[in-house]
Amino acid sequence: MNKKITIAIDGFSSTGKSTLAKELARYLGYVYVDTGAMYRAVALFAMQKGYIGAAFFDKKSLIKSLPFIKLTFKFNPDLGFAEMYLNDVNVEKEIRTIEVSSYVSKVAEISEVRSKLVEQQKEMGKNKGIVMDGRDIGTVVFPDADLKIFMTASPLTRAQRRFKELQKKGDNVTFDEVLKNVEERDYIDTHREDSPLVKAEDAIEFDNSNISKQEQFEKVLKLVNI
Ligand code: DC
Repeated sequence: MNKKITIAIDGFSSTGKSTLAKELARYLGYVYVDTGAMYRAVALFAMQKGYIGAAFFDKKSLIKSLPFIKLTFKFNPDLGFAEMYLNDVNVEKEIRTIEVSSYVSKVAEISEVRSKLVEQQKEMGKNKGIVMDGRDIGTVVFPDADLKIFMTASPLTRAQRRFKELQKKGDNVTFDEVLKNVEERDYIDTHREDSPLVKAEDAIEFDNSNISKQEQFEKVLKLVNI
């Protein structure tokens, strides 16, 4: 059978959601969408325009600018996945910095930002054959998804993973800063009013603190069962 399905992967930051989602999409020949990249691109836009900084956030100006924010994904065959473009500029690298990570949860709290992005995400998934990862995919974007996965791991494990990734990229950051960022984002993501991060009732939970990527991939593939 090759009936195309919708797979929603939600969970905390740095739980390996995107690695799993990318592998699944590649294996199944599905489209992969990293919704965190979309929120990160909006945060980058706010930084570039000077709407957000260490001690201020001009939400009104960001909301007014939303019609002028164009978010697109373009598949990069060398990397094997789609990269994020903000107003036709490739921002894949810029959106992964610790600075963007420290502002993005505040941007993702804004309902106007969420409704713009959710509308675009629903549109991307209307033909199924999609693996989408984020925080509200199984609850808000695709409440009828065929398979919902919810990923967790301890904050320490996640901070260690993130720290290694950032070090590899040459980002000059301390482990304590990364851990603090992970904990702050967890707090904001789970406590915001609009679409807080919660496990959908019908999602299958994976704590991957102690299992390998390969083991996890195989377990999820069994669940796809098509
Ligand atoms: O997955 P990530 O770390 O790249 O996500 C960046 C931020 O965006 C995260 O702090 C929460 C937010 N986010 C969200 O609110 N809803 C989504 N569907 C995806 C991400």
